[in-house]
Amino acid sequence: MVHTSSTKDIPVVSTVPQHIAIIMDGNGRWATKRFLPRVAGHAKGVEAVRGIVEACIRRDVKYLTLFAFSSENWRRPAEEVSLLMRLFVTALEKEVSKMHANDVRLKVVGDLSRFDLSLQKMIQTAETKTANNKGLTVTICANYGGRWDVVQAFNCLQLDGKSADVITEDMLAPYLSMAYAPEPDLFIRTGGEMRISNFLLWQLAYSELYFSETFWPDFDASALDEAIKSYQARERRFGRTSSQVMDQIS
Ligand code: IPE
Ligand code: IPE
Ligand code: MG
Repeated sequence: MVHTSSTKDIPVVSTVPQHIAIIMDGNGRWATKRFLPRVAGHAKGVEAVRGIVEACIRRDVKYLTLFAFSSENWRRPAEEVSLLMRLFVTALEKEVSKMHANDVRLKVVGDLSRFDLSLQKMIQTAETKTANNKGLTVTICANYGGRWDVVQAFNCLQLDGKSADVITEDMLAPYLSMAYAPEPDLFIRTGGEMRISNFLLWQLAYSELYFSETFWPDFDASALDEAIKSYQARERRFGRTSSQVMDQIS
């Protein structure tokens, strides 16, 4: 299915965001505040993921995209990186069958070649197992970077022999790693920082941005509802005037 590009056409706006993309930030500070090791915050963060996945299913959100590990997170101490990898493996082991039972389709996007082969295989198996599910699509962005995504799309386009002197948005878009999903309607960053940190640079072109002070491990269904409420109060103009938007509704 080809999704509407927010820069080429005016997308249909639904009351419940179809696609929510989240930067799950603040695990480390959540733990430090409690005199716990940072990894305890990451472990608690996995529980928060479970809660938000369930909440999205109940609210009939179609796509949930979660930033789990950025292409820059390799800069962290080796010990934290390896604990994060281990947590990723355990989470996959524990959660995939539950997700499958709940009709969730799981996708993992990012440069996966840097992960252990065993982890790459687990990801592949989980994706294959859930590929035909029709409920919520959960995308985990792992070793993902927005710049990496645009560059890999361009390289794949060239490899496909479709390159031309001048390339267009329409030519490049199908090669982006999340081409199977519509652009996010709602972007949420927890943990108080107000930056994109190299998340979905292309896809966030017209997303509504929402920043929460709450650390990710504390972000629950009611916090999600607050974000959705804020989203519902926005006027999505996509470059038009307010009265044009009103005319379209009436
Ligand atoms: C987000 O929490 C999780 C990852 C980046 C893996 P952080 O670990 O960045 O938590 P803070 O920002 O240090 O509190
Ligand atoms: C963004 O959080 C990446 C993830 C949540 C996976 P960071 O904690 O890495 O972002 P910065 O370093 O504060 O920008
Ligand atoms: Mg952080």
